[in-house]
Amino acid sequence: MKNWNWSSISFIRLKPFPENHKMRYAALNYLFAGVLIFSGCTGERLQSALHPAAPEAQQIARLWWVMFCVCSFIFVVVIGLLFWGIFAPRKPQSSPPGGSTGFVVAGGIIMPAIVLTGFLIYSLKVVVSQRPDQAAETIRVTGFQWWWDVHYPVSGVRTANEIYIPAGRKVRLELIAADVVHSLWIPNLHGKIDLLPEKTNVWHIRADRPGIYRGQCAEFCGLQHALMAIYVVALPEDQYERWKAQRQEPPLTPANSELQKGQRAFFAYGCNNCHAIRGTGATARVGPDLTHIGSRLSLGAGTLTNTVGTLGGWIGNPQVLKPGNHMPATLLPPDDLHALVAYLRSLE
Ligand code: CUA
Repeated sequence: MKNWNWSSISFIRLKPFPENHKMRYAALNYLFAGVLIFSGCTGERLQSALHPAAPEAQQIARLWWVMFCVCSFIFVVVIGLLFWGIFAPRKPQSSPPGGSTGFVVAGGIIMPAIVLTGFLIYSLKVVVSQRPDQAAETIRVTGFQWWWDVHYPVSGVRTANEIYIPAGRKVRLELIAADVVHSLWIPNLHGKIDLLPEKTNVWHIRADRPGIYRGQCAEFCGLQHALMAIYVVALPEDQYERWKAQRQEPPLTPANSELQKGQRAFFAYGCNNCHAIRGTGATARVGPDLTHIGSRLSLGAGTLTNTVGTLGGWIGNPQVLKPGNHMPATLLPPDDLHALVAYLRSLE
């Protein structure tokens, strides 16, 4: 204990503390660090379990706060007892170790058992109350390494890495994996659910209000697990119906020679071996459907924002941007690349 002092556990140390003020400085440091940390908890959040936008997420957030408060209280009591044990003045002939078995049994066995049983019952209650609704509109979500295929079986709409839903209405998700186990987690809306290779899991999500909610694969699924994001876009009911009607239409035929050249490049360089574009004869399902790629929020499942530059860079060398993904680099002359990017951007 000789080398221990308050300044050794402070986060910020601008200059050596005067001996008699060390404790005060340490307290100030903790306060400052605490303000910085908790300032991240305010406002609207794109991906946060503590900013629920659905009744299910609300229940989970409440469970989290109850656990946090109970555990914080226990932590403070335990630390208080620790300090009491260290600093309380001791009588020279106090009771020998083992004289307080009752305290150890009560504090170390009975109390944890009561608290953990309470947590177990509460969390099971939350899980049971979140059963999926069989009647709602179905969307099929398939997890691939490392992206999401999103299919609306009734309307035939297919997209990738984003799920459009009507705000205020429950939708039913049928979830399956094409390769390894993935897990869908949209913290603002719900808890996690696994996508398994040979079994369809059923889930539901809803959003109380329109907005964009970011989700993330929550099961380690290989090299680019961390770059397997998904966006849930909740639209007002009428906008959602308009979106769906528009997505049912195949994209317009290329309107000018540049776009026609881009479409020819799509087939000449073999993009159609992996991707589908409705109405063009490209029907492969190895990679994401590109029918409306021009209006996607992101490229590479949340890796990049979707712009002319990032799309060109992605086609040219996706392995630099997301190493290990299944798309090879496509080497093509600059004018073909420009035309191809212009064509894909026109697919709104
Ligand atoms: Cu898919 Cu992690």
